[in-house]
This record gives sequence, structure tokens and C-alpha cells, in this order.
Amino acid sequence: MAFFSPLSFFLLLLLSSTLSHAHAWVGVNYGRIADNLPSPDKVVQLLKSHGIDRIKLFDTESTVLSALSNSNISVVVALPNEHLSSAAADPSFTDNWVQSNISHFYPSTKIDAIAVGNEVFVDPNNTTKFLVPAMQNVYASLQKFNLHNNIKVSSPIALSSLASSYPTSSGSFRPDLIEPVIKPMLDLLRQSQSYLMVNVYPFFAYVGNADKISIDYALFRENPGVVDSGNGLKYSNLFEAQVDAVFAAMSAIKYDDVPLVVTETGWPSQGEENEIGASTENAAAYNGNLVKRVLTGSGTPLRPKDPLNVYLFALFNENQKPGPTSERNYGLFYPNEEKVYEISLTGDVVGATPPDSNGSKVEVTGQTWCVANENVGAEKLQAGLDYACGEGQADCRSIQQGGACYDPNSLQAHASYAFNSYYQKMKRAAGTCDFGGAAYIVTQPPQYGKCDFPSQ
Ligand SMILES: *[C@@H]1O[C@H](CO)[C@@H](O)[C@H](O)[C@H]1NC(C)=O
Ligand SMILES: *[C@@H]1O[C@H](CO)[C@@H](O)[C@H](O)[C@H]1NC(C)=O
Ligand SMILES: *[C@@H]1O[C@H](CO)[C@@H](O)[C@H](O)[C@H]1NC(C)=O
Ligand SMILES: *[C@@H]1O[C@H](CO)[C@@H](O)[C@H](O)[C@H]1NC(C)=O
Ligand SMILES: *[C@@H]1O[C@H](CO)[C@@H](O)[C@H](O)[C@H]1NC(C)=O
Repeated sequence: MAFFSPLSFFLLLLLSSTLSHAHAWVGVNYGRIADNLPSPDKVVQLLKSHGIDRIKLFDTESTVLSALSNSNISVVVALPNEHLSSAAADPSFTDNWVQSNISHFYPSTKIDAIAVGNEVFVDPNNTTKFLVPAMQNVYASLQKFNLHNNIKVSSPIALSSLASSYPTSSGSFRPDLIEPVIKPMLDLLRQSQSYLMVNVYPFFAYVGNADKISIDYALFRENPGVVDSGNGLKYSNLFEAQVDAVFAAMSAIKYDDVPLVVTETGWPSQGEENEIGASTENAAAYNGNLVKRVLTGSGTPLRPKDPLNVYLFALFNENQKPGPTSERNYGLFYPNEEKVYEISLTGDVVGATPPDSNGSKVEVTGQTWCVANENVGAEKLQAGLDYACGEGQADCRSIQQGGACYDPNSLQAHASYAFNSYYQKMKRAAGTCDFGGAAYIVTQPPQYGKCDFPSQ
């Protein structure tokens, strides 16, 4: 064993704390909503061959966790939304879950955090009230197994948790969420020395505002930048502006000390015609430039000393994801393990430039609505509904209990409402009334009970 003088010991401590503070990293989400992906063993080889040493899963699938054992790859696992009510209600549920789905694999599988739920505030099943109790029970169960110092508990929130994100300095959480869930969640994160998980997609902001947002600003390319009118800080890319909007929102309620990890970000390599900006070239630019930016190790204008840590979305194109074409084209790899485009995930220089592809704008006029096609069956309708109200960020409040469109309480009626809400939000652009064939366009206002379908 080496001998350290008190001074060199002190220097060593100083050095290691500086290093750990300055360490920025990039991980990748390993989503599996597909029927054509390589086996988990092959995936682990793929991760290793590309130097990917951090991944995030959406469950605790045992074949995946076993394949990752002894790989030295850090893993964020998840307790899916459908288990939140059980986890909230019953500490023995989380005890059992931690025992068979975490402790069983740890430490040979390097689980370093648990995402309790995913984008819970936009879950159409209204699971928000279960979130904090579920997180508390998972944390208490980790304590019982003495894993709480090694495995963090958090929950990825969508950027739509913010009521305001522009200008960045005006960032604030939705007022209806602050007292019931944001503050108690941040209290738990603070107390357990965990971090806030946030999913940040500049692509969505760009698609909705392509006339106002410069593509170079969205893709980390050279551009004049955007000055925040509130605090005068200058942003050179939309990603950092969005992350800082979350920091501003935390700051506004006095949680400046809680760290943040971006648990999803990405850009699709293909999209519907109206999904302006979805292209191989842009996906390569976004992800490639993001990785370079993150690996500089510097933070955002609001938190310059906190390195950015991100998980790209996603490892593979996932052919069974519902929603528009873009949803199935976020992958860095095709299922056959070929790269969709050349980028480096480790900061090494890569050569090839990807082929150009073009997104063109479609103009749609006249009043149209989008409704569900009940002939496709309940499963497809439900998947489309979940997408529209979830990642699609349609306004689904009216179809929740007590809402104006809750009655008739049928899947067909609720799906129609959600599909139309999404379609109108997307300005009725081509391809946004599809949901994997579960929807079609009509030219007369739909009639379901007393419900008014917006047409804008
Ligand atoms: C495991 O990964 C860590 C970084 O996460 C690294 O410091 C360590 O050297 C790796 N160990 C092995 C055996 O590769
Ligand atoms: C936990 O692990 C068990 C055993 O592998 C599995 O049957 C169960 O589905 C898992 N539960 C959850 C919620 O992932
Ligand atoms: C909502 O609940 C239904 C019924 O329990 C389930 O089939 C569906 O998958 C849930 N949706 C989400 C997004 O969890
Ligand atoms: C992309 O589309 C624009 C407008 O339709 C066109 O002017 C441009 O030439 C196209 N670029 C490529 C590379 O096809
Ligand atoms: C969703 O949660 C809100 C707030 O807790 C509640 O008012 C509403 O009735 C719930 N809706 C459903 C469908 O459970």
C-alpha cells in the first residue's frame, strides 16, 4: 500500500473531487419497443464495441440485466408507470420488487439509478398522485437492502412539466404540479442526494416553431445565438436554453442545489412530411454536436460549473412505437446493428458525412378533424391514445374523469378526442392523423355526447 503524506493526501482529495465534479458523460437509452432487435447479449457487445458505458432501460427485463452483468456498463432501470399505484400503496410491493428486480442483479449488474415511472405528469392514466409515495417506498426498500447509497431514485419528467420555458429565465413549473408533486419530489431528491431526471427534445420545439427557431440554433451549429431578455444571458443552442429553463424553474422554488441529468434527448432521422427538420443529416448534426458539446465538460449559462450529463434517445430504431414516423426513427443503430449515421459517442473523430435528405413543408387548409377507427381493435386504439396523450402532448384533460368529454366513457370516444387534439395541435399536417392506421380524417365535426371537438 502506498504512503501519502498529509499534504499529498489532501491534494489527492482535492484532485479527485475536482475530477468527479468535472466529469461529463453521454449514455444511451436502450428502448425495446420492437420485434426485430438483436439479443441482449449481442447488444452488450455492440455497446462495448462503441465505447458506450452508460445505458438507460425502461424496465427491469431480466434477460437484459443478466446480459449486462460484469460488463462494467452502468445501468438506469425503471419501474414502469403501470406499477406506480401498487408501489405507492404497498411497501411490501416495493420490497419484493427491489429484492427480485434490483438486488438480485446488483452489484454484478451495475445498476446506478431507478427511474420510478416515466413522464408521469403526461400519463393519460393519471398516475401523478402515486409518484412521490411510490418513490418514497422504493427508496425505503433500497434502505432495507442497504442499497440506497449506491442506487439513486428519481423520475424522468417531460419538458411539458414547465408552464413557461421561454425566455429561459422565465422557466417555471406548472402551478398545479408544484405543491402536490414537484416540491415533495425535489425534497426527496435533495434528501437522498439524487438528481432530477429531465427529458429534453429541442426537436419538438423546432417542429412546432420552425418559422421562428433557426435550424442552426437547434442543431448546435454556428449561429448568432439568442439573448435571454430576462437575464441577458446568451444561448448558442436550444438544448441549453431548455435545460436552463428547468434550472430556472427549480431556482424559482428554491431548489438550486439539486443536480439534473438529461435522461432523454435526440433527433429523428426520418419523419412525416410535416415534421420539418427530421432527417438523417440533422439527426447526425444534433447528436454529433451534442456529444461534442457535452464532452467539453462545461455547464450551461445558468449552471456553468455543473457538467451536462445526457442519455441519447435511442440505441435502436424501434419499429413498434406508435405515433408519427419520427417515433420509429430516433435510433443511432438499425436493428441489424448498422449505424444510421456516423457519429462519435466518445469524442473520437469520425470521417464520413451522412447523405442529405430533405423535409418539405405541407400546407393544409379547410376544416378537418381526426377520429379513431374502431375496426383496428382496442390494442391499437389504446396504443394511439397513450401516445397522443403521452409523448404527443395532446390536451387530454377533457377526457379524464370529471372532464367535459369523459362521457361517453368508451375507448373509441376517448381515442377520437385524443387523436383530434393531437392532430389540431400539429396544425392538421399530413401524417399526424394516422396512429399506425388507427385514425382517419373527417370533414364534419365528430359527435360524442356533449363533447366539443376543437378544430381551430
Ligand atoms: C469500469 O468503469 C469505470 C468507469 O465507469 C472505470 O473507471 C473502471 O476502470 C472500469 N473497470 C474495468 C474493470 O473496466
Ligand atoms: C420483477 O422480476 C420478476 C422476476 O424476474 C418478474 O417476473 C417481474 O415481472 C418483475 N416485475 C417488474 C415490475 O418488473
Ligand atoms: C393505462 O391503463 C390501461 C389499463 O390498465 C393499460 O392497458 C395502459 O397500458 C395504461 N397506459 C399507460 C400509458 O400506462
Ligand atoms: C430541399 O428542399 C428545398 C425546398 O423544397 C429545395 O430548395 C432544396 O433544393 C432541397 N434540398 C435537397 C438537398 O434536396
Ligand atoms: C386525476 O387526478 C386528478 C387529481 O388528483 C383528479 O382530480 C381526477 O379525478 C383524476 N382523474 C382520473 C381519471 O382518475
